[in-house]
Amino acid sequence: MMTPKSKQYIELEEEYGAHNYHPLPVVLSRGLGCYVWDVDGKRYFDFLSAYSAVNQGHCHPKIVAALQTQAQTLCLTSRAFYNDALGPYEAFMHDYFGYDKILPMNSGAEAVETALKLTRKWGYLKKGIPENEAIIVACSGNFHGRTISIVSLSTDTDARADYGPYTPGIAVIPYNDVDALASFFEEKAASVAGFLVEPIQGEAGVNVPDEGYLKACYQLCKAYNVLFVADEIQTGIGRTGRLLCCDHEEVRPDILILGKALSGGVLPVSAVLADNEIMMTIKPGQHGSTFGGFPLACKVAMTALEVVKEEKLAEKAEKLGKIFRHEMSAIKSPLIRQVRGKGLLNAVVIAPHEGKEAWDLCLKMAEKGLLAKPTHGDIIRFAPPLVITEQELMKAIGIIKESIESL
Ligand SMILES: Cc1ncc(COP(=O)(O)O)c(C=O)c1O
Repeated sequence: MMTPKSKQYIELEEEYGAHNYHPLPVVLSRGLGCYVWDVDGKRYFDFLSAYSAVNQGHCHPKIVAALQTQAQTLCLTSRAFYNDALGPYEAFMHDYFGYDKILPMNSGAEAVETALKLTRKWGYLKKGIPENEAIIVACSGNFHGRTISIVSLSTDTDARADYGPYTPGIAVIPYNDVDALASFFEEKAASVAGFLVEPIQGEAGVNVPDEGYLKACYQLCKAYNVLFVADEIQTGIGRTGRLLCCDHEEVRPDILILGKALSGGVLPVSAVLADNEIMMTIKPGQHGSTFGGFPLACKVAMTALEVVKEEKLAEKAEKLGKIFRHEMSAIKSPLIRQVRGKGLLNAVVIAPHEGKEAWDLCLKMAEKGLLAKPTHGDIIRFAPPLVITEQELMKAIGIIKESIESL
């Protein structure tokens, strides 16, 4: 797969970039909709969608047009002054998601970090937790980003090791275990400010919790006056077949964290949403970001969210996801151990067979024109842009089947 042309680019990254990723040997130079093209002009289905940031498809014309128009008008003002894009964006987000207020940030990790700070503030100012005693409960297998505090929550050795000392005030309980949360609350609820959870654990390999898990956790949080904080950075914005994954269980998080597809993959745009009782605990000077809520991001995010509704992307994800899981489950191969997911956030667990593993299957699929990436060695996530058509999906499934057969 490595061609002379792609080799040049790979070598540059090897030589001059930190080695904090291990990419598939494909060098991309163009994208449109559910497709990307490499430097040699070969076309692929993109079944990663930049970790679900490109739900609206690559280079969506309407989103790119909004970006171009605003880029020629006003990009950045900082929050030292008002601008004419932020207020309308904040009102738009209120109408769209139904929260009193938004705190705009840029990357996902920053939004999670913001949510952690907001949770602690609320814990001290509203719940009355004694100073420096607030606890935030997270789940094993979580992935919330890469800052020191966030890796302090992590149970993944690669993400965590040698980054200590870790942030205190964190407790980790098993995921998908309501009893574990109940017993933790029974003992310590007086000091617990928030429960941080991914409605589906994306990076851990699309771990879908049992039906009713989110609802039961939410109810426990209510019973013990603890904030239910949902990290929907990967699961939100149509990906799982609803606008938010929590919508599947009619749970309204106290704090909602969004990122990735909030911009359709055009810019890093993230957000923390909450009602006044929580959000108003932060006062001027107590939190911020130079770029957070910059005019370019505001216009892009509004357009990206309009596209989600206009093109009914959540409904499409719901329908196409069922087809995907049905077709994948029907494949008879010793390589396939399990198919799981919701909407168009799916994974196949690979059972290594005759020396062939998930990585080999990904290389084979790339050769045949479909890009996906293994996570945790044996799990392949399949998450195409939600703009993919049923016909395109069937073609992609054909490539996956052929690749499995030819291994
Ligand atoms: C659930 C979740 N939270 C947070 C993040 C971090 O987002 P970012 O990489 O934009 O910092 C990710 C990224 O994969 C994620 O999946």
